[in-house]
Amino acid sequence: MIEVKNITKIYETGDIKLKALDDVSFNINEGEFVAIMGPSGSGKSTLMHILGALDIPTSGTYFLDGRDVSTLSDDELANIRRDKIGFVFQSFNLLPRTTVLRNVMLPLLYDGIETEKREKRARESLFATGLDEPHFGHLSNQLSGGQIQRVAIARALVNNPSIILADEPTGNLDSKTGEIVLETFQRLNEEHGRTIILITHEQYIAEHADRILFIRDGKLTENRNGHIKRIIKK
Ligand SMILES: Nc1ncnc2c1ncn2[C@@H]1O[C@H](COP(=O)(O)OP(=O)(O)OP(=O)(O)O)[C@@H](O)[C@H]1O
Ligand SMILES: [Mg+2]
Repeated sequence: MIEVKNITKIYETGDIKLKALDDVSFNINEGEFVAIMGPSGSGKSTLMHILGALDIPTSGTYFLDGRDVSTLSDDELANIRRDKIGFVFQSFNLLPRTTVLRNVMLPLLYDGIETEKREKRARESLFATGLDEPHFGHLSNQLSGGQIQRVAIARALVNNPSIILADEPTGNLDSKTGEIVLETFQRLNEEHGRTIILITHEQYIAEHADRILFIRDGKLTENRNGHIKRIIKK
């Protein structure tokens, strides 16, 4: 599904060139749960932006479902982001003074779908994260950090994407709330077959994935199986 071949990303700021990714290659299959791990500044978010078709590499190729992403037009890239990929960013970016349900319906606004259908899909994706129904009408300042993060995940899911890209989704959470969010990702992976790519700088979080890619100074240093610490209560 994802094929990254010899990708390098160089940022140029004035005269300074910084190699954020250095000859990175790996594949991710459909239905895998992969963690990308590395210290701060190692290139994780840079890689996420490329995988999410938000940015393009300086050199190398990125194939998504067999298509070379660098050959696509801006419109085609926008379509890929809308239809295939769900983003969960580290900073909670829910709209304030807007209910949980409306926040999740937001990405569907531009698809010309009628309100009733949008609401149904938003509710389904909220249920998939395990958020309790009484919270659906709450505003974001009436939720805990973990609940907000689940709403952010629901919003990433509402377009029914095959890939979920999450950048430090548990970064601002205490460990107990973080476990709940990780459990949500595991359930989406196991029960709904989503491909999950989870970025983190913490080993114990990465161990929840099937496989861990380690990056350091922009280089892929290791590609190994995770311990798959399953926390779903069966
Ligand atoms: N737009 C940009 N312009 C210039 N340099 C950048 C840009 N974005 C990132 N960088 C640099 O590229 C390197 C990799 O950054 P990146 O954000 O990918 O790291 P990261 O692994 O996500 O770190 P963190 O764990 O702190 O989020 C860093 O040295 C950073 O300063
Ligand atoms: Mg980052």
